Amino acid sequence: MGDIKVLDKEFIISLPAEKIQSRISELAEELNGDFFGKRPIFLGILNGSFMFATDLFKRITIDAQITFLKLASYQGTSSTGNVKQLIGLNQEIKDQHIIILEDIVDTGETIDTIMRQLSGYLPASIRIASLLLKPDAYKKDIPIDYVGFRIPNQFIVGYGLDYNGFGRNYEDIYVLKD
Ligand code: IMP
Ligand code: MG
Repeated sequence: MGDIKVLDKEFIISLPAEKIQSRISELAEELNGDFFGKRPIFLGILNGSFMFATDLFKRITIDAQITFLKLASYQGTSSTGNVKQLIGLNQEIKDQHIIILEDIVDTGETIDTIMRQLSGYLPASIRIASLLLKPDAYKKDIPIDYVGFRIPNQFIVGYGLDYNGFGRNYEDIYVLKD
């Protein structure tokens, strides 16, 4: 609680753990209702979503599976340069109801990449649940179906979110001090 320092930067508390947890309970309740009888597969996107995925999935009471994927960067041969590929996917998702779990949707580039690659595996449906959304930064048309919190366009850390790899290990979410 209070202020923290991650590497060279100072952050102040923005979303306390209790608030995060109670919102996750609400999201879980909604998902339990919407996916009753559908046996969905939750797809956690690593690394950022690991805490959200854990806390949310503990509150899922319907039959459901969970698995994790990672977006890996590799140097493309084209002039576009950095291409991101979703790794860890397999045919198991064909004809299944998929719920993507993201920590945060910012510009939407990441979720756009994920959606395009997932569609190729022909799931029955794809929904997105993101703990956080920065509406002012979001540039895509893909609906973010379940959103924990809509936040201003400021840099945050904690609860799985990092600053240069550090700061993921806090149960609260902190915003960069200006
Ligand atoms: P997008 O592709 O612009 O939507 O960005 C999504 C990714 O950027 C997230 O999965 C995070 O890894 C990272 N990101 C965006 N905003 C923040 C932030 O405020 N703090 C930490 N990571 C962030
Ligand atoms: Mg992420």
